[in-house]
Amino acid sequence: MTGHAVVEVDGQPLSLSRDHDPSVRLSVVVPTYDEASNIEALLRGLHRTLSATGVGFEVLVVDDDSPDRTWEVAGALVDDLPELRVLRRRGASGLATAVTCGWAHARGELLGVIDGDGQHPPEVVADLLTAMDDRTDVAVASRHVAGGGVSNWSTARRLLSRGAQALGLLLLPGTVGRVTDPMSGYFVVRREVVADTDLDPVGYKILLEVLARGDVRGVVERPYVFLERQRGQSKVAIGHYVGYLRHLMRLRLYPLRSRALVRYLAVTGLALIADALAFLWIFDVQGWNLTRSAAIAGEVGILLTVLLHDLWTFAGRAARSALDRLRRLVGVQLALGVLLFVRLAVINALVNWFGLGPLAAFLVALAAVTPTSHLLGSRLTWRGVRS
Ligand code: GDD
Ligand code: MN
Repeated sequence: MTGHAVVEVDGQPLSLSRDHDPSVRLSVVVPTYDEASNIEALLRGLHRTLSATGVGFEVLVVDDDSPDRTWEVAGALVDDLPELRVLRRRGASGLATAVTCGWAHARGELLGVIDGDGQHPPEVVADLLTAMDDRTDVAVASRHVAGGGVSNWSTARRLLSRGAQALGLLLLPGTVGRVTDPMSGYFVVRREVVADTDLDPVGYKILLEVLARGDVRGVVERPYVFLERQRGQSKVAIGHYVGYLRHLMRLRLYPLRSRALVRYLAVTGLALIADALAFLWIFDVQGWNLTRSAAIAGEVGILLTVLLHDLWTFAGRAARSALDRLRRLVGVQLALGVLLFVRLAVINALVNWFGLGPLAAFLVALAAVTPTSHLLGSRLTWRGVRS
């Protein structure tokens, strides 16, 4: 029976197309390696939960040719579970690429992932499905929202997980900061936000890849309790943490190729030029005093930064309400306004204590404060989490 039920695939990465089968709302991928003793309970739990929702669904097990023949155990269930498809992947390994391989073979409008060892309660997939309204692109099962948690994880594992998260926040605040559980391996994503992107994950953290490379607008989180593994072993090894670091670094460098950062930098350049030209005109041509000229010029730069980020850098993102725009304007204004005060103090100190000419002092202060104001300007203009 398992002959035709198990499809052999090779490790070649496949692109994820935009097309989906209208009869399949959700495709759930289950990456497995040596889960023969766990996979049946998980698949039956998924079948029970998703059948009760009444939506069209499919489940794809992607097994990396497990020595314990998990693919065969799963294949034997196909008659019982008609929505089940089993892919036996040969010539590749790794949780995250098993997931992207499964998604590339999937037909659903929504793409999900759940562990095959029973540590992710299958019932929660119904909450994730419900959470996927029109404004939501990713629904994450999180251990770190009210109602979530982990069963008795060792202190070492908890520290490692939290440490990895802190590192991620440091290197990729705009990505890792969007969710409370960036390490989660249990979530649903809208196909169109990851289709045509070059998802190229490393190791275990497929969610990082989706949040960093996908065109993700709304993100919601739903609680779950990470259960104790009943049988078999976790495959997480120290090498996965090294892979995670490599993954973070690669994603950190990724925006260099992305449109957003090029526009960030262009906006910063334009704001700098506008700031300096406004200063020259007010101070030199109009003859106003140094501090007042620098303050007005600085304000011109701030307003131009917010305006261009909203209308150009992030033009493709979901339009927000007028209140959101106002809130963002006030936030950036306050943050950059504080920096403007610092700049005025630096200008006066350079002129009065170090005898620098007004123009030289203005330019030195502008150059000194710009990197911080650019980072703040970009960080504050766009956040994306709705819980
Ligand atoms: N196909 C494939 N290939 N599957 C794999 C591989 C692999 O190389 N390595 C692990 N898996 C499967 C396991 O069989 C299991 O179904 C799932 O991926 C998770 O692997 P575990 O080794 O059990 O990971 P964990 O329980 O320590 O951590 C999991 O939960 C965390 C919290 O959600 C992983 O999903 C982590 O990514 C996640 O952060
Ligand atoms: Mn596990």
